[in-house]
Amino acid sequence: MIPEPALADDLAGLAPLIAARLAPDAHGDMARWQAALAALPDLTPERVDLGATVTVDGPADDAARNTLAEALMGLHPWRKGPFSLFGIHVDTEWRSDWKWARIAPHLAPLDGHRVLDVGCGNGYFGWRMLEAGARTVVGVDPTLVFCLQHRAVTRYLGGAANQVLPVRFEELPPAGFDSVFSLGVIYHRRDPMEHAERLFRHVRPGGQLVLESLVVDGDASLEPAGRYARMRNVWTVPSVAALTGWLAAAGFEAVTAVDVTPTTVAEQHTTAWMRFQSLTEALDPANPAMTVEGHPAPVRAVVTARRPGAA
Ligand SMILES: C[S@@+](CC[C@H](N)C(=O)[O-])C[C@H]1O[C@@H](n2cnc3c(N)ncnc32)[C@H](O)[C@@H]1O
Repeated sequence: MIPEPALADDLAGLAPLIAARLAPDAHGDMARWQAALAALPDLTPERVDLGATVTVDGPADDAARNTLAEALMGLHPWRKGPFSLFGIHVDTEWRSDWKWARIAPHLAPLDGHRVLDVGCGNGYFGWRMLEAGARTVVGVDPTLVFCLQHRAVTRYLGGAANQVLPVRFEELPPAGFDSVFSLGVIYHRRDPMEHAERLFRHVRPGGQLVLESLVVDGDASLEPAGRYARMRNVWTVPSVAALTGWLAAAGFEAVTAVDVTPTTVAEQHTTAWMRFQSLTEALDPANPAMTVEGHPAPVRAVVTARRPGAA
């Protein structure tokens, strides 16, 4: 087993929940995933790069690389990345480095920050936050296979500074974070205002929030009656004004939309490491400006904000 990194004192109460979530009978695929983790070869990291492709490298012969690739593939689907582990390029569904490139220029410096990443997936952005100066990152995501992907990566990168906890945001006890990120989550929430208010409670006074969401053009938010871009669990795709309004109503100040960018099939697509359908199949082939359901195609906004108060 890959050792569990120690929890910070104010999160120590989560230990039983985390143990239960990762128990052998917690999920029908858990035994297979744990077998994949156990099959990761012993390799010695000699070079780490937390840049666009999160990379760890060192000596590895072909046999070790094949074993590594097979073990990592056992944790399919790899959605967030890219990663490169001992020469194995994990070509993920998303070019998450593109999202980070839209966020990073607008950040208040993360130097020394304790960061929370809500809905962190496999922890890709946590590595980028460490690269940007964060002291520690706590990510929360209830999707177990993403948590186990993170454990595969930490086998070589170490997991103390960038943790991915298999818990829901709503289960996280109040803890003061210098910076809180919620990327690609709020449109999945039935009650987005509740999410905004919860984010507020987790940012320390004077701290920053970075929120990224699908948005629609114009003044009216979209509440899709059925699916949106083939996703079942999209409740509200806000206008930029609605999104910034939620954050202001939750108590944030200096709420600013710093980037609005359409999502392209170059940024999100099927790969060998994520073999399911992706954005291409969610767009109307006759008019890729629309989804197959007849909604506007995905556009994403990044909003920054601050919780009032002294640092
Ligand atoms: C669209 S993905 C976004 C992933 C990543 N933050 C990004 O921007 O690429 C949404 C993530 O939120 C996670 N999620 C769903 N419900 C959650 C909850 N209640 N608390 C925390 N994360 C949740 C999902 O498992 C999924 O990984």
